[in-house]
Amino acid sequence: MRIILFAGKGGVGKTSVAAATGIRAAEMGHRTLIMSLDIAHSLSDIFDLEKELLDQNKGRVIRVDKKLWIQELDISEEMEKNWGSIHKYISTLLNTTGLDGILAEELAILPGMEEVSLLLYINEYARKKKYDLMILDCAPTGESLRFISIPTTLEWYMKKLFKLEKTLAKYVRPVAKRIYDVPLPGDDYFETIEYLFERLKGVDQLLVDPEMTSVRLVTNPEKIVLKETQRAFMYFYLYKMNVDGIIVNRILPEDIKDSYFESWRNNQRKYTEQAEKYFNPIPTFHVNLFKEEILGYKSLKRLADQIYEKRNPLDRFFEGKPYSLVKEDGEYRLMMTLPFIEKEDVQLNKVSDELIVRVGSFRRHVLLPRHVAALKKVKAEYKDQHLTIRFTGEDHGKGEEA
Ligand SMILES: Nc1ncnc2c1ncn2[C@@H]1O[C@H](COP(=O)(O)OP(=O)(O)OP(=O)(O)O)[C@@H](O)[C@H]1O
Ligand SMILES: [Mg+2]
Repeated sequence: MRIILFAGKGGVGKTSVAAATGIRAAEMGHRTLIMSLDIAHSLSDIFDLEKELLDQNKGRVIRVDKKLWIQELDISEEMEKNWGSIHKYISTLLNTTGLDGILAEELAILPGMEEVSLLLYINEYARKKKYDLMILDCAPTGESLRFISIPTTLEWYMKKLFKLEKTLAKYVRPVAKRIYDVPLPGDDYFETIEYLFERLKGVDQLLVDPEMTSVRLVTNPEKIVLKETQRAFMYFYLYKMNVDGIIVNRILPEDIKDSYFESWRNNQRKYTEQAEKYFNPIPTFHVNLFKEEILGYKSLKRLADQIYEKRNPLDRFFEGKPYSLVKEDGEYRLMMTLPFIEKEDVQLNKVSDELIVRVGSFRRHVLLPRHVAALKKVKAEYKDQHLTIRFTGEDHGKGEEA
């Protein structure tokens, strides 16, 4: 089984590329599901599905071909199915603060709930081995990064906070009821969280397993888009996910000789070359700007032909190593590939058995093996796009910050 994520800046062509990949994979005989997290839901538009069929199957899996299915998550359906008591508690909480009921209900949809719902499906389908390929058509970069940070954040929350909260609620509830008007979460709230967590177990492993999951970044040969692609690439590496291809979309075809486009063509050439250089040895795939919008089966197939030629989209086009932990010369070395950043952007903290790596506003908790965490001396160095953290023993000084 394979999972392929298509990510990138808004409007670069993620949904088109995801759909084209799905069509190709299904035609090659793989049972393929394309899932979308994008609230705009352009996936069903691309496949030109009847409105009635969509309305009847809101949020559910719809078959579009013999071996091809699509699913566009619907947050209101998910609320009912997965979030019942959590949603109820939060909206009651907001309600007591004087918010109007409907507004409170809306606001109680917390950021991340949709993403967690998607993770639940991925895990369920993976456990049941329902599909050979699951394609994720991500929302624009920022949001898809939130999606990939969720498994580690949840693990951290369950490990560090959940038990504490639960114990607190148990003791505080009877007292607080008398003093405050604010409701505290009931047992059902905690049960729902525990149940959710149970169903999410293992999904983080699926996502960081390079045999299983690949990220393909869609980009355009333009300065600002490319910049964002580099940033996204670094964050995916930070979360230990393997990027196995860069799709450079919307390249003006060579036979466009019109002088009006000359500057466009020159710049595109420059940025296409730059993309290759930046991401080397990860392969880049080039796609032309089509004569018209990419709509319907036929043009999607042409798009797939341009990207993959004769290749199977399920192949792994590259296998990098974002992380490694080795023991050498009596010390442990944790190496992380973190390209495209400045040394000053990285902040490190070690708190008991966790290493917290901060890059900009993103934070990754790396749980260290116990014997590594026990070592008191920590030294970090950022060089040639690699962060190396050395752990050595004996010295019982304080862990230092880099
Ligand atoms: N190579 C191309 N040639 C012509 N049109 C293209 C090409 N790639 C994408 N398009 C068109 O550009 C528009 C945006 O593409 P698409 O919806 O795939 O982007 P997206 O990255 O998913 O956008 P969003 O971030 O809004 O989800 C669509 O109308 C699509 O048909
Ligand atoms: Mg899209």
